[in-house]
Amino acid sequence: MAVKTIIDVCCGSRMFWFDRQQPNTVFMDNRKLETELCDGRKLVISPDVVGDFRDIPFEDGSFRLVVFDPPHLIHAGESSWLAQKYGKLNSATWKDDLRSGFA
Ligand SMILES: C[S@@+](CC[C@H](N)C(=O)[O-])C[C@H]1O[C@@H](n2cnc3c(N)ncnc32)[C@H](O)[C@@H]1O
Repeated sequence: MAVKTIIDVCCGSRMFWFDRQQPNTVFMDNRKLETELCDGRKLVISPDVVGDFRDIPFEDGSFRLVVFDPPHLIHAGESSWLAQKYGKLNSATWKDDLRSGFA
């Protein structure tokens, strides 16, 4: 089995990745989702681990690289394709949430 040296803590639908099954990587997100967007594109969010970047369920120092691409949006509509695909920041807590992620 490949050694897991990388974690992507907000993997979403893994668009970042050339190899979406990269064997050395743990793919994490706080949700699982399979749906169709308004333009017909399929959206699949299927992490190896369902977890929260504010409290990552691994010991410090477990990985050589942490990929961190949290939601960037606050005001997208709840059911918009942007929110479905990329998630949303909490308007009241986002600064603390991101601080916890980096910590
Ligand atoms: C900008 S998207 C990531 C896109 C991804 N980099 C890609 O290549 O497709 C942000 C992701 O963070 C996830 N997310 C939001 N809050 C989170 C949390 N507290 N912990 C883990 N993931 C979270 C969302 O579900 C969403 O899939």
